[in-house]
Amino acid sequence: MRDSFLNDGFFKSLDSSVKDVSEAETLPPECYTSEDFFEFEKDALFNREWLCVGREDWVKKPGDFFTVSHIGEPLIISRTKDGELKALSAVCQHRAMLVAEGHGNAKAFVCPYHHWTYGLDGRLVGAPAMSKTCSFNRDDVKLPELRTETWLGFVFVNFDANAEPLAPRLTQITEALENYDLLNAEGPFPDAPSQYPWNWKVMMENNNDGYHATRLHKGPLHDFIPSELAVFPDMPDGAAGYMRFNGTLHADAAFNPLQKAVLPVFPKLTDEERRRALFANIPPTLSLVVTSDMIIYLILHAESANSHSMTMGYLVAPGAMSVPLFEDKMAFNMNAAMEITEQDLHVDELVQVGLKSRFAPRGRYSWQERAQSDLNIWLVSRYQDAWTRLNGQ
Ligand code: FES
Repeated sequence: MRDSFLNDGFFKSLDSSVKDVSEAETLPPECYTSEDFFEFEKDALFNREWLCVGREDWVKKPGDFFTVSHIGEPLIISRTKDGELKALSAVCQHRAMLVAEGHGNAKAFVCPYHHWTYGLDGRLVGAPAMSKTCSFNRDDVKLPELRTETWLGFVFVNFDANAEPLAPRLTQITEALENYDLLNAEGPFPDAPSQYPWNWKVMMENNNDGYHATRLHKGPLHDFIPSELAVFPDMPDGAAGYMRFNGTLHADAAFNPLQKAVLPVFPKLTDEERRRALFANIPPTLSLVVTSDMIIYLILHAESANSHSMTMGYLVAPGAMSVPLFEDKMAFNMNAAMEITEQDLHVDELVQVGLKSRFAPRGRYSWQERAQSDLNIWLVSRYQDAWTRLNGQ
């Protein structure tokens, strides 16, 4: 690696980011800006962790599929004829064309280039004019397959065949989400991911930052959820995610000009749940923004140190999409959400500029930024473990 900063001293210096939030400092700026660090991070995180790819109900029927990409690896998520969920590489095993794009329903994946054809389970079922090719056996060829796991209707994949299961390490978040019944929540297939010229962690930190809420978003679309009402539950050792509850000034608060839910509230919510929002992060790919009538999910796709893309979608209570004027009500919500999001995106873009500066700090945290130190705890243990592995210690 070119940069000399990736050494024992650098990884030891990360210890100061995993102290109690009252003592911790931010990660070194290079963790957000260096392409060499991103290459290291692929091995430390992305090749080992569970990566969210979408919702299981996007592939309800046999033949349904969608495509997705993480760290530049094009993938297909498909439902086989037997109803099995599969995660496959989209890379043709002939000359590397992608065998599928977008989403839809297919009987098989036919590579457009030379028409090698793969079953929904990835097996090569057709390869024209290959009979004179020595030692070529169609049965030996298939699209590489990844492990999958589903959690509350979200599909995750893992490049590591030996990775620990995800759900047992999310019990506390699962319990917090129980009454929202995410497994049965409904939502449309989202728009294609949007591109952003900043590090994926800048986005993930912003998604669960209670500190900026009262400041950056000051105004009638956000004032009902003050930063002072943030609560950060302790997560058990080894937890695969972290969360923040944020109290609201009235029940069923929502990010819209009425500050009130306009869609049916998730029916099992308690009074306590209706007086708070929940922000949960499952790094390195999934953030949830949970309110009484709507859940926004954000799926991050890291691409380089200085860029990522993000899929943004929403879920509502079963039947909510059939209520009169649903589209208008959702537009009412999403227009406000986009106004708030624009404020975040502006900040995120300039944070990345600042992080590249020679004057970029290792700053200190407010208690309202506990989610950032929770992310640091998740990251640093993995960074330090990977550095130890890399050095054969
Ligand atoms: Fe796919 Fe040739 S690259 S069939």
